[in-house]
Amino acid sequence: MNNDIILEVNNLNSYYEQRGRHGRNRKREQVLHDVSFSIHEGDILGLVGESGSGKTTLAKVLLGIVNDYDGEVIHHTSYPQMVFQDPYSSLNPARTVRWILEEPLRALAKRSKEGWIPRTKSARSEMVRQMLSEVGLDDEYLDRKPGDLSGGQRQRISIAGAVITRPKLIIADEPVSALDVTIQAQILELMQKLKETYSLSYLFISHDLNVVYQICSRVMVMQHGSVVESGDTESVYNHPQHPYTQVLLMDAM
Ligand SMILES: Nc1ncnc2c1ncn2[C@@H]1O[C@H](COP(=O)(O)OP(=O)(O)O)[C@@H](O)[C@H]1O
Ligand SMILES: [Mg+2]
Repeated sequence: MNNDIILEVNNLNSYYEQRGRHGRNRKREQVLHDVSFSIHEGDILGLVGESGSGKTTLAKVLLGIVNDYDGEVIHHTSYPQMVFQDPYSSLNPARTVRWILEEPLRALAKRSKEGWIPRTKSARSEMVRQMLSEVGLDDEYLDRKPGDLSGGQRQRISIAGAVITRPKLIIADEPVSALDVTIQAQILELMQKLKETYSLSYLFISHDLNVVYQICSRVMVMQHGSVVESGDTESVYNHPQHPYTQVLLMDAM
């Protein structure tokens, strides 16, 4: 396996401006504390921690959505794509699946000269069909809108929309947390299949340690914005070193 580095984060601190009442008493509050890690090609890196620990904030810094930070974020490949928890709010409800999946290709065609990007309507259409079938949906879904789809189907579409731009890294923030357990398993299986087909890596964010155990090769545990433990999933789960990890595992298993 090629082990090229995809993303490097060094000594990252990030902040939010907390507004007091009536916009007064503004405070700059630190959310992430000295976070360092890297993602290599082929990794599925899990990020776990309870609600409010800073997982989504880390994703937003990596995607350039949160800009108030210091430290280094080095993307060694193209920009990551994102898959969100709630595929309903992240998919445009007014558009068809066809439009939703063609849009990233249209956008890409404008700003990139890479050879694989389809330049004609029919080539885009063909790529969308193929992507749709790879996420397990047939052509009849092309003309549906997100509101016509189940939660699992919607998440298949958001995953397709991320993968269709051929990223190296996908950041998935609680991608199965809103789904029933049986549907969760199907989506995890799909993500694993697409990882192989498209040589993807994932930063897989979840508060659910069981889900992380199923899919992640490595895991990072975050508490109050700090990474308190990280390592191979097997060794962290079998021999947790930090008291916080021990508590999380006790509650989960
Ligand atoms: N836009 C924001 N403005 C101010 N504070 C925020 C904002 N978003 C999140 N926070 C705070 O940052 C901390 C981390 O939140 P978040 O990254 O969403 O955690 P997680 O995804 O692990 O649940 C929390 O204390 C939260 O209240
Ligand atoms: Mg979150």
